[in-house]
This record gives sequence, C-alpha cells and structure tokens, in this order.
Amino acid sequence: MAYRIDLLTLFPDLVNNYCQFGVLSRALREQIIMLQCWNPRDFTSDRHATVDDASYGGGPGMVMKAEPLDMALRAAQDGCSDARPVIYLSPQGRRVDHDLIESAAAGKGLILLAGRYEGIDERLIEKRVDEEWSIGDFVVNGGELPALMVVEAVTRLLPGALGDDESALQDSFSAGLLDYPHYTRPAIYDGEAVPKVLLSGDHQAIAAWRMKQSLGRTWSRRPDLLGNIELSPDQLKLLDEFIAEAHQLGEPS
Ligand SMILES: C[S@@+](CC[C@H](N)C(=O)[O-])C[C@H]1O[C@@H](n2cnc3c(N)ncnc32)[C@H](O)[C@@H]1O
Repeated sequence: MAYRIDLLTLFPDLVNNYCQFGVLSRALREQIIMLQCWNPRDFTSDRHATVDDASYGGGPGMVMKAEPLDMALRAAQDGCSDARPVIYLSPQGRRVDHDLIESAAAGKGLILLAGRYEGIDERLIEKRVDEEWSIGDFVVNGGELPALMVVEAVTRLLPGALGDDESALQDSFSAGLLDYPHYTRPAIYDGEAVPKVLLSGDHQAIAAWRMKQSLGRTWSRRPDLLGNIELSPDQLKLLDEFIAEAHQLGEPS
C-alpha cells in the first residue's frame, strides 16, 4: 500500500509542481507514495475566503486562523483510517535528521501542516498537532519547502523509490557516516586524475578505499557522528591509516 502524505498548504500548486520532477514524480506514478494537498482556504465560509487575521496583542504580521486548518485537518484524517502523526513544520520544532526521517518512513504516512505569515494560532497546535519539526535554525517564508524536504527524504527511503535501493543505503548518515567522494568521466579533469584504485576493477580494494574515505570524511567534517557508532576493527584500522596519511600531508586534525 502507498505511503500516504496529506499536506495542508495555502499553496498546493507550489507543492504539486515540485512533485512533477525526478524521484518524487516516479514515486507518485508508481504509487509508492500518495500525496494530497488540502487548502485551508477551501474550508472557509466567508466571501473573501479568509485564512488569516491580525495577531491578538498587536504587532506586525498576520496569523493563520485555527478553524479552516482544523476543518482541513479533519477532512485529511477522514479520508484515511491509518493512524498518522500530524506534524507542523516550524522553526521552533525538533530538528529533522536521518533518524527522524527513518522512523517516519517506517510508519504508514504523515499529515504535514505548512504555516505561513507569523505562523498558526497556538490553540490549533496545542489541540491538533502531535509534533513540530524544524529544518534548521533559520526562518523561511512558509512551511512548503520544509514539508517538501521531509516528503523527499522519506520517499528516498521507501522500497522501490530509487532506481537502485542500494543508493539510499550508501548515502550520508544511513550507516552513521558521511558518504565517500564520487568521480565520473573524464579520468583526468583540469589536470586532476581520479584516484587510481577506482580504475583498477578490484572491487575489494575499491570498497576498502571508499570505506576509508567515508570514515576519514566523517572524522574530519563531522566527528560528532563517530561518537554514535561502534566501528569494527577493520574500520578502526582504515581510520587510523586515514588519520596517519592526513598528518603526513600536514592536514589539520
Ligand atoms: C515566517 S515563518 C513564521 C516564523 C515564526 N514567526 C517564528 O519565528 O517561529 C512562516 C512559516 O514558515 C515555516 N517555517 C519557517 N522556518 C522554518 C523552519 N526552519 N523549519 C520548518 N518550518 C519553517 C513554518 O511553517 C512557519 O509557520
């Protein structure tokens, strides 16, 4: 059964247009995911289809009204009996990372709520939202891009979504490490040659080189990640070699 995502947004066209490309469009076509947008504007009853109003207490910016969102949320939930968490994309939420995406991908689906303006009425969050997720400590204009990032990251982990399921397993973070460097033709570009081992056809040597680069990159760029995993004796040996070579080259540790 398709992984089902409902997305509450004032800009469904923005979301649907993005989904017409690449991996997402194929995943939708092959019914690996199902994505439906719900516009709170369609759940208003006044002539102007009002979805926002001034902030109580004054100050700049508008606030998304609770009622149209609540009704849109009920419509999204009525359409599917599976229990799915309601996630509000918000800069104040839990930071999205690989573990969070992995656990989301293991479920049946998500209901995502994209805010606009100054955000949404707090009472709606308290009553109807299960979790708030942030894409980082910065603020963008709306929750659509953050929601699409979640949709795309989750989709990559679903069986059959990528041409080759292995490729998600090799991505950064999936084994707790950063990905190794990649090269493609030509073998010499701007005077720089591709590492010789990659042209050797020796699969074992290539795998060892890639693991060493992966470990070394993680050590030099994201040492915090190494604290979360237990390295095998072989991996420790490769990392020691990488560190020794880096020191020989005078690279800072
Ligand atoms: C301009 S922002 C509102 C920011 C809000 N006034 C605050 O400071 O917390 C409008 C909407 O963009 C989305 N948004 C902005 N930054 C985000 C982030 N870092 N992660 C997830 N969503 C974000 C949220 O849905 C938010 O309701």
